[in-house]
Amino acid sequence: MKFKEEKATLAFGRKLARLLRAGDVVTLSGALAAGKTTLVRGMLAALGHRGEVPSPSFAIVQPYEALNPPVWHVDLYRIENALDLDELGLDDIREEGVLIIEWPDHAGARMWPEALALSLEVAGNGTRALTADVPASWEGRWPPR
Ligand SMILES: Nc1ncnc2c1ncn2[C@@H]1O[C@H](COP(=O)(O)OP(=O)(O)OP(=O)(O)O)[C@@H](O)[C@H]1O
Ligand SMILES: [Mg+2]
Repeated sequence: MKFKEEKATLAFGRKLARLLRAGDVVTLSGALAAGKTTLVRGMLAALGHRGEVPSPSFAIVQPYEALNPPVWHVDLYRIENALDLDELGLDDIREEGVLIIEWPDHAGARMWPEALALSLEVAGNGTRALTADVPASWEGRWPPR
C-alpha cells in the first residue's frame, strides 16, 4: 500500500481503527518521521478522539482510556533495556484495550509475536509505503477496506 501524502496516511488510519478489538497489539516500525504517529492520529480520530495526539516520545505511554476500545499509544524510542520496559506495565493493559507501539524493536526481538506488525518506508516525494506482517488474529480483518 502507498500513501502519497499525509492525508492518505490519516485516511488509512481511520479505516484500520474500525477493525480494532480489545486485546489487539499493533506495532509501527519505520524511520524517524516515516509517519507512524500520523497513522495513529487517523486511528484515534476515527475512534472519536478530539484534540491533540502528542508524540509519546517523552511520555512513552499516552493513554486514551475513554475510547472504545481504549487505546494506549506507546513510543519505545527512548527505552534502552528490558527493565525500563517492565516498569511501563504494558502487560497489565493488554486485555483491556489496544496497544499501538512505535519503535517495537527497542523492546528486543519479537516482544509481541501476535501483533499486527506494520512498517512504513519513505520513498521519494513524500510517498510512504506500508507493509504488513499479518498474524492469525487479523486474517479476515486484513486489509482494511
Ligand atoms: N505520506 C505521508 N504520510 C505521513 N506523513 C507524511 C507524509 N508525507 C509527509 N509526511 C510528514 O512526515 C512527518 C511524519 O511525522 P510522524 O510524527 O508521523 O512520524 P513518526 O514516524 O511518528 O516519527 P518518530 O519516529 O519521530 O516518532 C509529518 O511531518 C508529516 O507531515
Ligand atoms: Mg512518532
